[in-house]
Amino acid sequence: MNSAIDLTDLDAFEQNRAWPLFDELRENEPLHWNPEDSPNHGFWSVTRHADIVTVTRDEDSFSSEVGGANLEELDAEQIEVRKSMLETDGVRHWALRRLLQHEFTPRGLAGYEVFLRGLTRTTVDRALALGDFDFVKEVSADFPIQVLAQMLGVPEEDTGQLIEWGNRMVGNTDPDYADVLADSDESEEFRLLPFRSPAALEVFEYGFQLAAERKGGDGTDLVSKLVNQTPEDGVPMTERDFRNYFLLIVIAGNETTRQAISHTMKALIDNPDQLAYLQEDPSRIAPAVEEFLRWASPVYHFRRTATRDVEMYGRTINEGDKVVAWFASGNRDPRVFDDPYRFDLTRTRVDHVTFGKGGPHFCLGNQLARMEIRLMFEELIPRLPNGLRLTGDIKLVRSNFINGIKKFPVSVA
Ligand code: HEM
Repeated sequence: MNSAIDLTDLDAFEQNRAWPLFDELRENEPLHWNPEDSPNHGFWSVTRHADIVTVTRDEDSFSSEVGGANLEELDAEQIEVRKSMLETDGVRHWALRRLLQHEFTPRGLAGYEVFLRGLTRTTVDRALALGDFDFVKEVSADFPIQVLAQMLGVPEEDTGQLIEWGNRMVGNTDPDYADVLADSDESEEFRLLPFRSPAALEVFEYGFQLAAERKGGDGTDLVSKLVNQTPEDGVPMTERDFRNYFLLIVIAGNETTRQAISHTMKALIDNPDQLAYLQEDPSRIAPAVEEFLRWASPVYHFRRTATRDVEMYGRTINEGDKVVAWFASGNRDPRVFDDPYRFDLTRTRVDHVTFGKGGPHFCLGNQLARMEIRLMFEELIPRLPNGLRLTGDIKLVRSNFINGIKKFPVSVA
């Protein structure tokens, strides 16, 4: 069986029509072949929670390195030039990941909590004083990147620039964000850059400047850690390793956490009983973060490439085929979540796949994201005795990669 569902149809994502497509695939065609326009060759989709876990854990059968982690099909040169730890397998991946692993553990992050809470308060107070405002612009967009700016040790005045670069790259299929759309002929000139985006060049240049300043020093920021350590496999970081690592950190922690905060706020507006549940007892916010994350599912998918023929549901995934794990769909799987479309903060053991699950690429920043989201709602909710009111239409990012809100007009109720 091969249904006509097309998960490359960006209209469906922009118009919030993707969820029923995932439901149908999960129920009727859990391994789905999705044809694509040339030059791409099509891909397999896995949409059930259990299969997403299987694919992302089995690095030997489903590689991140052979073809990269995104849907775009790359030639050998592009793969080599563009790859970061996210597109690396095995020992080298582990060695690169270990360079910053400690900084992202709860212990490594503990020193930032006081700073982060102060930053959250400033962000929230400034936004609420406006009365009417756009929640993305005033609250969720700036906050995560300011946190990263602190961890990277970059000056506060540069954060606006980091946000713009992030938008241009991750929003590379959305004309509101991208200066060069990834599927345009014009992007051919930028084929060797991550996201086919010229913004990547500016990020690289910025990263190199920071690296030059920090090399040989004893700084504790992330850039200093990257330029002053040798990976545990003994193979030094090349310039390319550094620039791609730097870019990954700037992007990964920026767009995603922003979307988690926006989707959570929207869910609290739509479900006043759940907001009241948190208002009654703010100590409920910390455990509710897991349901926030399940609900938000900011990353729709990542891709792998089969390294051998694999049988699944009586069909054969051939060696070399693209296999896409739809994390967002796994988070609505009724096999795991009772009544999955109910935003329910009383759920316990929320086994979401928002950050992946148990595989080698499991989100490095998951503890940081959890902390940022918790602090944001710990500061926001007590300041909103009557909640927020939606004052216009929400607009979604035109993307099947990032589940994003780009316009979110609200008023203090
Ligand atoms: C709610 C916010 C976030 C979401 C939903 C998210 C989601 C993800 C997902 C789905 C993956 C890939 C998992 C896999 O393929 O198995 C990933 C990897 C990664 N994330 Fe996050 N992420 C978030 C926040 C962050 C933050 C704050 C950072 C910090 C800079 C970060 C850094 C990374 C890195 C470096 C990787 C690659 C890890 C590797 O290849 O080993 N993420 N993230």
